[in-house]
Amino acid sequence: MTRAKKVVLAYSGGVDTSVCIPYLKQEWGVEEVIALAADLGQGDELEPVREKALKSGASESIVADVKLSFVKDYAFRAIQANALYENRYPLGTSLARPLIAKVLVETAEKYGADAIAHGCTGKGNDQVRFDVSVAALNPNLKILAPAREWGMSREETIAYGEKFGIPSPVKKSSPYSIDRNLLGRSIEAGILEDPSTEPPEEIYVMTKAIANTPNEPEYIEIGFNRGIPTTLNGESKNPVDLIEQLNTVVGNHGVGRIDMIENRLVGIKSREIYESPAMCVLIQAHRDLESLTLTADVTHYKRGIEETYSQIVYNGLWYNPLKTALDAFIQETQERVSGTVRVKLFKGNAFIVGRRSEHSLYSPDLATYGAEDKFDHRAAEGFIYVWGLPTRIWANQGRS
Ligand code: ARG
Repeated sequence: MTRAKKVVLAYSGGVDTSVCIPYLKQEWGVEEVIALAADLGQGDELEPVREKALKSGASESIVADVKLSFVKDYAFRAIQANALYENRYPLGTSLARPLIAKVLVETAEKYGADAIAHGCTGKGNDQVRFDVSVAALNPNLKILAPAREWGMSREETIAYGEKFGIPSPVKKSSPYSIDRNLLGRSIEAGILEDPSTEPPEEIYVMTKAIANTPNEPEYIEIGFNRGIPTTLNGESKNPVDLIEQLNTVVGNHGVGRIDMIENRLVGIKSREIYESPAMCVLIQAHRDLESLTLTADVTHYKRGIEETYSQIVYNGLWYNPLKTALDAFIQETQERVSGTVRVKLFKGNAFIVGRRSEHSLYSPDLATYGAEDKFDHRAAEGFIYVWGLPTRIWANQGRS
């Protein structure tokens, strides 16, 4: 049975996506597999990955450098939305998937493919993000997910690959499942599956252990323009450099580790460790600048939007109409979110210690406890009379 003729496969160079190539051809009758590796700043050398796809039987192997778009069009939007899933996870993995899906669809259209494929299993969130994003961008494309159906154990997968010249992993592969890109690392499995066990120090690479962080605090200043981070310590930075440099500076102080039990869309609770130094500090700083430049009602209303937005992104609905509508709301709120935020990094903490904006709504004349006070204290009495009226009526009624 032929499931598709020409397929564009999301390729990482790992065992699973490599085995997908012969599997699609042998078992599912696919004639041609085009491998696509997206460069999201995962730090792997991608030329060997590109060659490995060809050796594994791909007819074409493409590396797409999408780092700039990843930061500008995905990460920066999430910062404007202060997007933290379940109030903690800055969505590093979740944000990458809709972009990979977009490049898969564009490549499929360019090469006249009739399907896309990925190596996700049936238990995770990523399969949902790929499938729904592809469907949103081109509903005519078929979606093939061999690893969701093949039912092979890790050993069987490796053995299957070996039959088709795919080398088994040289070093004993890590007991962890790790997803990495510019925005951070997501680490699961192995000993981490016991939620009562402290994560071993060896799993971290972007953030230092507190014992090894500098003994002096470091101050950094982040500049925002309409909710988008643009400068670091007064210097303009392109989006990718800004994230990379912040990851280094912030991670050096041990900031950006998250250990959480999260609710996956497929109903499973999982224990995930994240390290996401730049994103954690950028969201914290951005939220702080909003507290200076947004009115109280917009700030409070936006909190609800942010929560929904984070769920939408996590749940794979990046290209959905609700997300587009919320984006419009968020963009509107960012008009005056410009200025700088001063952050003190020290021993695993990021403290916001100062903020400035030409659009500041903070009025010293009104806030001061000093003699310059311009607030009309007498006006408070009438205000409280009206504000408290319903309560007074209710209380009186209860006494009679
Ligand atoms: N739980 C995260 C998410 O759904 C990360 C998933 C990938 N994690 C991993 N360790 N491979 O976005």
